[in-house]
Amino acid sequence: MPGLSDATRGRILYGGDHNPEQWPEETWHEDVRLMRQAGVNTVTLGVFSWAKLEPRPGERDFGWLDRIMDLMGEAGIGVVLATPTASPPPWMGHLHPDTLPRDEEGRTEWWGGRQHFSHSSATYRRYAAAITEDLAARYAGHPALTMWHINNEYCTYDWGDEAAARFRDWLRDRHGTLDALNTAWGTAFWSQGYGDWAEVMPPRHPHYLKNPTQVLDFKRFTSDMLLECYAAERDIVRRHSPHLPVTTNFMPLWAGQDAWRWAEEEDVVSVDLYPDPRDPFGAQEGALVQDMTRSQARGPWMLMEQAAGAVNWRGVNHPKPHGLNRLWSLQAVARGADAVCYFQWRQSRQGAEKFHSGMVSHAGEQGRTYQEVTRLGADLARIAPHVTGTHSTARIAVLHDWHSWWAGDQEARPSHEVDHPGMLRAWHRALWQAHLTTDFAHPEHDLSAYPLVVVPQLYLLTDTAVDNLLAYAHGGGTLVCGFLTGIADEDDRVRPGGMDARLRDLFGIRTLHEWWPLDAGETVTCEGFRGTLWSEELDADGTADATTPYKGGELDGLPAVLRKGRAWYVSTLPEPEALRDLLTRIATGAGVRPVLDGLPDQVEAVRRGDLLFLLNHGREPVAVDLPGTHRDLLTGTDVTDRVTLGRHGAAVLRP
Ligand code: GLA
Repeated sequence: MPGLSDATRGRILYGGDHNPEQWPEETWHEDVRLMRQAGVNTVTLGVFSWAKLEPRPGERDFGWLDRIMDLMGEAGIGVVLATPTASPPPWMGHLHPDTLPRDEEGRTEWWGGRQHFSHSSATYRRYAAAITEDLAARYAGHPALTMWHINNEYCTYDWGDEAAARFRDWLRDRHGTLDALNTAWGTAFWSQGYGDWAEVMPPRHPHYLKNPTQVLDFKRFTSDMLLECYAAERDIVRRHSPHLPVTTNFMPLWAGQDAWRWAEEEDVVSVDLYPDPRDPFGAQEGALVQDMTRSQARGPWMLMEQAAGAVNWRGVNHPKPHGLNRLWSLQAVARGADAVCYFQWRQSRQGAEKFHSGMVSHAGEQGRTYQEVTRLGADLARIAPHVTGTHSTARIAVLHDWHSWWAGDQEARPSHEVDHPGMLRAWHRALWQAHLTTDFAHPEHDLSAYPLVVVPQLYLLTDTAVDNLLAYAHGGGTLVCGFLTGIADEDDRVRPGGMDARLRDLFGIRTLHEWWPLDAGETVTCEGFRGTLWSEELDADGTADATTPYKGGELDGLPAVLRKGRAWYVSTLPEPEALRDLLTRIATGAGVRPVLDGLPDQVEAVRRGDLLFLLNHGREPVAVDLPGTHRDLLTGTDVTDRVTLGRHGAAVLRP
């Protein structure tokens, strides 16, 4: 199978989405000049070009795409060619209303925006396959083409009639019989028993709470339907160009796709990443998504989109201060990216994204954005030969599973202050602040390579996942689990005793009596630290080696943290510093050290291959002590014993 290295060929891919159809052709030549000057070596074409390529049903206009592909080829700029299927032309919805999705209240999602397609629509799929077929046949052998990009940020749901029919088919495959479906969904509750498949619906707007397993299965179904759409187009382009890798761009930590499953179907895993420049934890948000993407890719991955400056979709859209674009781009490379790309090359003058930055902003060549983009292009070219194809290594795995997210984050749960991504962020943040590099893993993955496995929260665990965690722990691994883990089985049925019995046994818990969720801002005192969000009334069974008790209040004296052998259970969310310290202690006990000792708080350190990346997330310059002499690949100079990083500065050091 081809992979990312077939497209990078030793370079870090650098460029972005390019929408030449928004510009007169004179601008195309100016674009090429500016791209070359900035070190751009890749562009993604065609993402939203369907109406231009197929102006009327079945007609084709490839002339403009031929010209821009040739122009890129002559300039030595590779093309990632997208299938345009994320935004069907207006004629499609007009002629075929069945291609338009419906929301849960039955309202149509109309054309005029984008992504107004029903994943279940046979008509949509037929048109999508036809344009993909013609695009692939025409450009498969084009010398500029380096990779295929299918659709864009698959993210649509559909509660409409055709989707309902497909949902029933999907449920038949999953459950076999209506009796099995009734059992899995627990339809004895509230008189929901189904007597005929025709009665089964997507979870449309009800009078009161929805059936949670119906919702869970609908999310599984949606992810699978979108994956079918992706795979159908992927198979077409692969048939025409088996030598070229195929990707589709994920949204970061997006609820709608089981990205573990999807990543198995891609040659290149790519992601779009837009942390808020004002967010004090923007860098950690980036690190989390990068760690997750690298883990899905099991190696180098592609940063498909980021913003060179401001986005346009937050309440207030802040630009990136000087140096931040470079810093966050180098962070992605440190954490395994072999491609640093943007939405988009040239900022639009019209349309809904005209206030979204581009590599070339409205200010043009003299603008700060383009100037910084040009500097970064030179930096990436300098480090590329030492970086591409190498791996960032981590000895800690954080477990995450979309199915658990889908089951756990529904209505009518014990606390809406607690959610799956919030728990992932909190635990990853503690590890990030402790300078401990992490991979992510699925709870059924082989975990044996990791001395430490951290489970922020896995509300739903399959029997196989429980077996896997137990095998890991009994095999000598150190396992730390946060609360609300192992509560439900794969049909979202609460486990007897309120938490999986084998896990309770692993941690030394006899009875989990009650959950005591906390209000926002409320804390609970534990010996040595304070807990937030959650607390639990549980009895130990006397087999734990150590317990840390709650102090005062209803839970006084009951265990807040239990350790039995190498298995830890944490029944609250310790305040950030306390969680960082706890995880540092546990990691040390498992033989896992921070990347460097004594690092200033604002400096992130990551090892990739034999390189050490140092990234200053602070606005003040900072010095890092580092014994010995290293070559800074960014400056080409040697540094001995101490590295000074300017505001948002970075060093890429080789021993
Ligand atoms: C997403 C899309 C792009 C663009 C950007 C704006 O990532 O893929 O087309 O809309 O958002 O941030």
